[in-house]
Amino acid sequence: MRVLVIGSGGREHALVWKIAQSPLVEKVYCCPGNAGISRVAECFSLPEDGYEGLVLFCQEQEIGLVVVGPEQPLADGLVDTYRQAGLTVFGPSAAAARLEGSKIFAKEFMLRHHIPTAPFSVFDQSANAVAHLENTPGPWVIKADGLAAGKGVIICHDCQEAVNAVRQIMDDHIFGKAGHRLVIEDMLRGEEGSFIVLTDGKNIVPLATSQDHKAVFNDDRGPNTGGMGAYSPAPVLEGPIKDTIMATIIKPTIRGMALEGIPFRGVLYAGLMIVDGEPFVLEYNVRFGDPETQPILTRLTSDLVPLLLGSARGDIPTGPLVWRDDFSIIVILTSGGYPGKYDQGFEISGLDQLEDSPDLVVFHAGTKPSSSGYLTAGGRVLGITALGPTIELTRQKVYEAVKRVHFDQCHYRTDIAAKALRRF
Ligand code: AMP
Ligand code: GLY
Repeated sequence: MRVLVIGSGGREHALVWKIAQSPLVEKVYCCPGNAGISRVAECFSLPEDGYEGLVLFCQEQEIGLVVVGPEQPLADGLVDTYRQAGLTVFGPSAAAARLEGSKIFAKEFMLRHHIPTAPFSVFDQSANAVAHLENTPGPWVIKADGLAAGKGVIICHDCQEAVNAVRQIMDDHIFGKAGHRLVIEDMLRGEEGSFIVLTDGKNIVPLATSQDHKAVFNDDRGPNTGGMGAYSPAPVLEGPIKDTIMATIIKPTIRGMALEGIPFRGVLYAGLMIVDGEPFVLEYNVRFGDPETQPILTRLTSDLVPLLLGSARGDIPTGPLVWRDDFSIIVILTSGGYPGKYDQGFEISGLDQLEDSPDLVVFHAGTKPSSSGYLTAGGRVLGITALGPTIELTRQKVYEAVKRVHFDQCHYRTDIAAKALRRF
C-alpha cells in the first residue's frame, strides 16, 4: 500500500519512520515533509490550491491511506474533503476536531458529559471578562477560543496582567479571529501528563503514556513552546490512575461525541493535570502530540498501520499492543531565541556519528538540505531520541548524543525526564 502523510515536523518524521517499517507499506509520501523525512519518504511541496489539491494526486498514485499530522488542516475540514473524494483518511472530521479547535466547545462538552476539568467562564465582550477578573481571586488561565499556534493560553497571577491579556486578545486581536471569544478558568496545580488514544469512534486503543516539557528553560521556566522534550512511559500516569483516566475522561469523551452525533475518529490526546492523584483535562488535542509521538512510537513494536487504517474505516483492531520495555526520551534542539525571534540557516554537524546506534533515532523538525548535510530551518530543529532500560541510563545516553550535535545558537533543556526520576 502507498501512504501519504501530511505535515512537516518531528511528529510527522516519527509517523513516516514508523509507517515505513510496516510490511503492509510499499511507499510513503510526505507533503511537504522536511530534510530528514526525505530520507524515508518522497517529499513534495504543497500545491498552490493547498492540501485539498492533493485529491487528484492520491487518486492517481492509488494512495491507500492518508494521515493528517497537524491540527489546522483537521480543523479546516481536510478529512471531510478527502473522505468525500473516496479516500481512506486517518483523522477526525472538522466537526469532531472542534474538541481542539474551540476551547469553548471543549469546555462546554466536558460540562455536559461530567468530564473533570477546571471551573470556567466564557466571554464574548472584553468588558465582561475584565469585570470577572476584578471580582474573582487569581491566578487565572486565559484561553483564546480558537487555534493560536500553541500561544493562546496565558497564565496570569496578577490582575492587571490578566486584564492586559484580555484586552490584547479581545480588543487588539493578537490572535485574530481565534480571540473573538475566550475562556477564563481556574489554575490547577499538579503534574501534567499526556494520555493519547486511537479510536474509530467507538473502540479505543490507548497508546503508551508520556510527558511533555513545554517551557523553554529548565525547571519549567520561561515562555511555553511547542515542546522541548518528552518521555514515555510517564510514571505520573502509570498504575491504577490509568483506569481512572479511561473511565472518567477517555470513554465519556468518545461516547459523548458519538451521542452528540459527531463520532470522533483518529487520535484523541488528553492533556491532563494530575491534582492530588485525580486527573483533570487541561485541553484536548485531536492529533498526535509533538514531541510525545517520537518517544511513544520508538517504543511501539506493533505495526501502526492496521491501527490507522482501522480507525479510518471504523474497525480498529482492539488486541493489545506490544511495547518495548525501555524508556524513551526525546530532547529537542532549538534555535536560540525560539519561541521568540531566532536566526536560521546554520550548518548542523555531528549527526553522522549517531547513525549506527540502534537505540538512538534523530527526528528532524526544522531542517533543510545543504551541499554538505543539513541547515537549521525552524525554531525546533531536531529531536534526539534514545531508548534505554532505566530513566537514568536513557538520560545519560540521550544527552551524550545531544552533545555530539552542533549548530550555532543551539539551545536545549538539560532536565528532560528529571521529573520521572523524582517518582522512583
Ligand atoms: P495549551 O496551549 O492548550 O496546550 O495549554 C498550554 C499549557 O497551559 C498546558 O500545557 C498547561 O501547562 C497550561 N494550562 C492550561 N490550562 C491550565 C489550567 N487550568 N491550570 C494550569 N495550567 C494550565
Ligand atoms: N506536545 C504538545 C502538543 O503537541 O500540543
